[in-house]
Amino acid sequence: MIQLAPSILSADFSRLGESVSQIERGGAHFIHVDVMDGHFVPNISFGAAVMKSLVGKTDLPFDVHLMIEDPDKYLEDFVTDQTEYIVVHEEACVHLHRTIQHIKSLGIKAGVAINPATSLTMLDYILEDVDLVLIMSVNPGFGGQKFIPSALEKAKALAGIKKECGLDFKIEIDGGITLDNVKEVTDAGVEIVVAGSSVFGAEDPEKRVKEFLDIYKESE
Ligand code: DX5
Ligand code: ZN
Repeated sequence: MIQLAPSILSADFSRLGESVSQIERGGAHFIHVDVMDGHFVPNISFGAAVMKSLVGKTDLPFDVHLMIEDPDKYLEDFVTDQTEYIVVHEEACVHLHRTIQHIKSLGIKAGVAINPATSLTMLDYILEDVDLVLIMSVNPGFGGQKFIPSALEKAKALAGIKKECGLDFKIEIDGGITLDNVKEVTDAGVEIVVAGSSVFGAEDPEKRVKEFLDIYKESE
């Protein structure tokens, strides 16, 4: 099954609860939580308190994308009953294997993200340990950027490795996804699609989620 994870980075923060209800009614599968620290990426978004304000306000699980340096310091803060994945950046982790084990020790599924310029080979010795690989299709830091096409090749290559090695991590993509290019990414083997501005920038986010899900049916 292909899943949709709308990013609340592009939502109206003054009415976050209602925004989340809209995507839930549309049939979204996760809430993608983009945490930025102003160091690893040149922007600050929000922290665990904002995410925790949604606990109990929605049944959707959280897909937490930590774009922060030294994530080990903050992992515990993001653990809630609704936290499904915590995803850290390969580029931000000096001891990635340890960080992945740390996430798992908290009872949360562990993911690793790679920036557009990072090769898949950086993940050779961690793929067996992760529950999810997030391929960035923009340079992280901002919503509303343009999709970088080489992410498609990366997704295809990763899907090939996953099959060949019999691994069962999920493949996620994040950045610049719209109704116009989502079929290409799902055809490439992506299983979880993050979409920020294309969902929350739409006049009717609930309807926009349904439009994404309709396109998925063509790839499934
Ligand atoms: C980028 C974030 C993305 C972003 C996606 O740094 O990780 O999740 O919000 O937004 P769009 O879909 O607008 O590119
Ligand atoms: Zn993200």
